[in-house]
Amino acid sequence: MATKGIVRGVIANMVTLKVDGPVAQNEICYIETGGDKLMSEVIKVQGENVFVQVFESTRGLKVGAPAEFTGHMLEVTLGPGMLSHNFDGLQNDLDKMTGVFLKRGEYTYPLDNDRLWKFEPIVKVGDKVRASDWLGKVEENFQPLKIMAPFRLEGEYTVKKIAAEGEYRIIDEIAVLENAKGDTVSVNMIQKWPVKVAMTNYREKPRPFKLLETGVRSIDTLNPIVEGGTGFIPGPFGTGKTVLQHAISKQAEADIVVIAACGERANEVVEIFTEFPELDDPHTGRKLMERTIIIANTSNMPVAAREASVYTAMAISEYYRSMGLRVLLMADSTSRWAQALREMSNRMEELPGPDAFPMDISSIIANFYGRAGYVYLNNGQPGSITFIGTVSPAGGNLKEPVTENTKKVARCFYALEQERADRKRYPAINPIDSYSKYLDYPEFEKYITDRINDQWTSKVNELKTRLLRGKEIAEQINILGDDGVPVDYHVTFWKSELIDFIVLQQDAFDEIDAVTPMERQETIVDRVIDICHTEFKFDTFLEVIDYFKKVINLCKQMNYQQFESEKYFEYEKELKALLAERKTA
Ligand SMILES: Nc1ncnc2c1ncn2[C@@H]1O[C@H](COP(=O)(O)OP(=O)(O)OP(=O)(O)O)[C@@H](O)[C@H]1O
Ligand SMILES: [Mg+2]
Repeated sequence: MATKGIVRGVIANMVTLKVDGPVAQNEICYIETGGDKLMSEVIKVQGENVFVQVFESTRGLKVGAPAEFTGHMLEVTLGPGMLSHNFDGLQNDLDKMTGVFLKRGEYTYPLDNDRLWKFEPIVKVGDKVRASDWLGKVEENFQPLKIMAPFRLEGEYTVKKIAAEGEYRIIDEIAVLENAKGDTVSVNMIQKWPVKVAMTNYREKPRPFKLLETGVRSIDTLNPIVEGGTGFIPGPFGTGKTVLQHAISKQAEADIVVIAACGERANEVVEIFTEFPELDDPHTGRKLMERTIIIANTSNMPVAAREASVYTAMAISEYYRSMGLRVLLMADSTSRWAQALREMSNRMEELPGPDAFPMDISSIIANFYGRAGYVYLNNGQPGSITFIGTVSPAGGNLKEPVTENTKKVARCFYALEQERADRKRYPAINPIDSYSKYLDYPEFEKYITDRINDQWTSKVNELKTRLLRGKEIAEQINILGDDGVPVDYHVTFWKSELIDFIVLQQDAFDEIDAVTPMERQETIVDRVIDICHTEFKFDTFLEVIDYFKKVINLCKQMNYQQFESEKYFEYEKELKALLAERKTA
């Protein structure tokens, strides 16, 4: 029999209940008030006193109200039919409601039980299967999805029945499995999974090593991320975190994109709903939204729903990874998530950790990032979740707990800098402070060498060294004045400016410049390095400035042209003539 409870006290969304039976940590219960049933999650159990966090407004909730426990944790319902949908943190389908937000006590079913799917079996009667093994496939929006054996199946089962190729609903039985003891399980296309538990239905999680092209030069060329890797983008307000994350989600080579939009303001989240459906997928020419799922929540949603949303997004990503797909998961911003954690911990009157965040904030963040990764499934097929989160440190202070703890676990760091944003040098990724730890992996080095060439790494290192040197010279010029340093210093400085303008800066709103395929990035790097290696003759620093501005302008024009188009070659010719003018060696 289900455990029942009675409300003892209410402080905002935190409710204490007296219960009459066993209750588990993180179990879901429903509290009844005025005809509404409010979904809540158990936060702490102390004997017969249980603390729950209500996912909704507790307005009007009084002491004495009844509650009923469900026996399960917060779960996602998984199956075909989720792509291109917008959900909230509790996986309510936002498209099924009239306004932007659900009314209290209203929950919508995330899937469609009536729709027919063309199912094709993968296994046959007599095959042995285990949890998560692929039983069959269906196609959704051109993505090959797998229908899997129940995730929580224990031990080995034999396929007793498998549906023939044909059209089925997700609630129809597509297989019957039986174990050695003779227990049978009827399988349909729906799976459930507790969002806060990592899915570990894979054989192996090796270190990731395959370059994940994003089309963003500051990332791919300078500090690449890999398929199944992790990265984070810290940046003060308005420095371009969202624009950068959207650029990556539009362009990166992923089969499925999951976006957890944890916005400060409701309109930020509404923006993503209006922007994304319009976007074309540069890889297929179809709509990007076809392979995207958005999990949205705003700061006016209750704290526990905000806290849950990133887990919901992660569990959905794990579901697709189990099918052997490449998933890109984005969370913007994880600081909002951490704030939700902080609010909850404060209401429980827990001993606060740094900046009043929960004491275990560091392990919460580490566990979350740890769920991403490149895996080999039990059948040997690869699958991946690449995770990139933004962080909005208050006042741009990178020493605050969320940034510091994220830095410990995320392998790529793309620091957005106020100064670059103010000077409109977008994307405002600081090229010197940012890093990718994947560059230190020998398996990545080998991958990139095989894929591009064995000089690539040293060229990229040269770019970085030159950017650093350029920065030092800029500081000297600032102190000593333009005349106070030799003319060659100006030349070296302007060579670093060339790298900044041509490699780093990229217009996210220009159709061509926004996305640079790797092949083109190589050409750009080669050209820039060539110019850096050229000796020029100048008499005064003014000549240097004037000349390099022209060079930069021509290279920039090339970046804006269709690769190797007529126009592109025209600018290239002009550039060659210009370079010949002052070349000495
Ligand atoms: N790559 C880019 N190309 C051109 N403009 C950009 C680029 N990146 C950012 N911008 C400009 O900066 C503005 C702010 O960017 P964005 O909204 O992404 O900042 P944010 O860091 O997400 O801000 P918040 O902290 O408020 O969430 C954009 O509206 C755009 O005008
Ligand atoms: Mg933003």
